[in-house]
Amino acid sequence: MSTLQAGIYHGPGRRPPAHFALVFLRADPEADAHAVDRALRSVNAMLRDLAEGRVAELPGHPVDAGNLEVLLGFGPKAFDVPGAKLACPAGLEPRLRFRSPRPTGGGPLLVGSGLPYAPDIVRNDATEEFCLQLTAGTQLAVSRAVVELWKLLRGDRDPDTRAAVLEIAGVHTGFQREDGRSWIGFHDGVSNLRSRDREGVVAIGEADAGQDTWTVGGTYLVFLRIAVDLDHWHTLPRAAQELLVGRDKLTGAPLTGVDAAGRPVPAPGCPVAGTTEVTETGNEEFLQPAPVSEPVLAASHVHRANLTGDADPGQPGSLRVFRQGYEFFETVPAAPGFRVGLNFVGFQDSPDRTLRVLTQRGWLGGVNFGGPPGPGASAERLLSVRAGGTYLVPPVRDAAPYPGAEVFG
Ligand code: HEM
Repeated sequence: MSTLQAGIYHGPGRRPPAHFALVFLRADPEADAHAVDRALRSVNAMLRDLAEGRVAELPGHPVDAGNLEVLLGFGPKAFDVPGAKLACPAGLEPRLRFRSPRPTGGGPLLVGSGLPYAPDIVRNDATEEFCLQLTAGTQLAVSRAVVELWKLLRGDRDPDTRAAVLEIAGVHTGFQREDGRSWIGFHDGVSNLRSRDREGVVAIGEADAGQDTWTVGGTYLVFLRIAVDLDHWHTLPRAAQELLVGRDKLTGAPLTGVDAAGRPVPAPGCPVAGTTEVTETGNEEFLQPAPVSEPVLAASHVHRANLTGDADPGQPGSLRVFRQGYEFFETVPAAPGFRVGLNFVGFQDSPDRTLRVLTQRGWLGGVNFGGPPGPGASAERLLSVRAGGTYLVPPVRDAAPYPGAEVFG
């Protein structure tokens, strides 16, 4: 039986619900393992009640919980809480963490990566002790869970110091798009892992866990909030966009060549007669792009993000990851008044998989999104990071008050 926490929609036919929030919780530096354990127990109990429609201040008046699901993650700092009983697992060691933004803003996310922090980002809020992923079918169900969490933590503040053991230090929200496309207009999530391969990629096995045996059956969450510069994207003609992504923009068909004029050529026969999009039934063989020899196609995002094709995804060297991203749209004071992007959420048996995809040459290393590397590359400044972090998602244990309770309890 799977011991993965709820909120990882890896099973056959399962799709993530429409709404998402990732909440970062900071532990008071004065709080010890005993206090953190108590706080996490009450957070978990409150959210479990809420998932069953019970709101503390509305006794006897249940609400529609909207299929709320909750996942608890432990960041590297969780293991520094005084009195923590277990050491930081190898999957969260410093080489597998993102760099901090520069104090003046921006700076590289990782040595070897072409993904920078956005110039206005001076602090990364995805580095707190804990994260809570909240997913539900309605925006209300997710937002209410954040507010109920805040109420609970507020009630726990020390009357003299006003400090609580846990405080909300950041929240990022997102949603699924019914049209299955990303903000750049292309289909996204088309060549995600097949459901039968997912658990092997996601769940930490004994060999992955090494000495951290207590993590077996859990997973690692890698989060990146990535803004897309749509102004820049729309300076590129459709053919240039397609060469950067590696798919036809309208149908989603993988590209298999370029013609004499350098224009992209989609896979012949895709989509099959009677369908208009690669995601429709009958097009299964086209979902994952076949290997290409044309250098401009090999440099596209889909080929850089997966160089191992169909090789056993369970092998760490395949660098396959279960992607469960959520788009975002947020308002900003400056014109045009909004910013869009992707909450990249990847689940895997070690963050090493995603970090190597982002840094290895030939993969996404040294490039921002895709295309040939180097100054003047057409997608050089397309993506910028607003927050990023890696979290251990401990396995569920029967009778444990919350996943990972053995760290503090
Ligand atoms: C805002 C940022 C991003 C956008 C807009 C984006 C967009 C896309 C699109 C349109 C596709 C093609 C559809 C598909 O095959 O699923 C794709 C595929 C993919 N992307 Fe991204 N992506 C982004 C960031 C990333 C990052 C940061 C990673 C890895 C760390 C990544 C990994 C992948 C993978 C593994 C595939 C599938 C490749 C394959 O197996 O064919 N993407 N992405």
